[in-house]
Amino acid sequence: MTNPSDIVWHDHTVDRATREKNLAQRGLVVWFTGLSGCGKSTIANELDHQLNQRSRATMLLDGDNIRHGLCAPPERLKTEHNEAFAERFGLGFGAMDREENIRRIGSVAALMASAGLITLTAFVSPYRADRDRVRTIVEAAGQSGDFLEVFVDTPLEVCETRDPKGLYKKARAGEIKNFTGISDPYEAPKHAEIHLQYRDGTTPSDQAAEVLQALIERKVFL
Ligand code: PPS
Repeated sequence: MTNPSDIVWHDHTVDRATREKNLAQRGLVVWFTGLSGCGKSTIANELDHQLNQRSRATMLLDGDNIRHGLCAPPERLKTEHNEAFAERFGLGFGAMDREENIRRIGSVAALMASAGLITLTAFVSPYRADRDRVRTIVEAAGQSGDFLEVFVDTPLEVCETRDPKGLYKKARAGEIKNFTGISDPYEAPKHAEIHLQYRDGTTPSDQAAEVLQALIERKVFL
């Protein structure tokens, strides 16, 4: 058994404040959450673009991409590891797998924020407790206010009509199990810092600009 007290935290010579000063910005995590097809990846991608146009140092972590590596499903891991390894560490969409998915991403996002990066994440992250745990990890690595939850509140009917990957159709046909909004729950945030309500005609660029404005108001740029 590993005794956690045998693993000791090291403070390094270059600290977070130095990294943030060099980048002239505060590192933080902007956490987009919402149903599949709600627009979170598109808005986060647009915000990333707007920030980079202002020469800001950012990183974008996106659900589908992270599930190609850090949080790959067992079926993908089997190509490089044995079956037992793939089953143990591969992640699907059951409640506990999603919890581990968000825990890994939360830890990575907290590290990136500590490096001074404006870290944007776009994950369904359907469970409130999982998102709250990330908030705790991120704020423990920095300070209160380093985690901004952005609820992309697009109604299920709109997401289902968009169905960009045809997944809702498959979920309705019973071909995908545990599909968020159809056969699995989505727990909407109760106190998101930013609530992007669906309005016909509003573009992802408008919504990204709204989040950018919130960052400016929070004095993220030094
Ligand atoms: S989670 O809930 O945060 O662990 O999910 P995430 O890592 O963001 O991955 C969501 C993307 O995976 C696709 N997909 C599913 N989503 C929800 N439920 C089920 N069962 C599922 N199976 C596959 C889907 O394309 C999600 O991408 P987005 O960009 O959200 O549409």
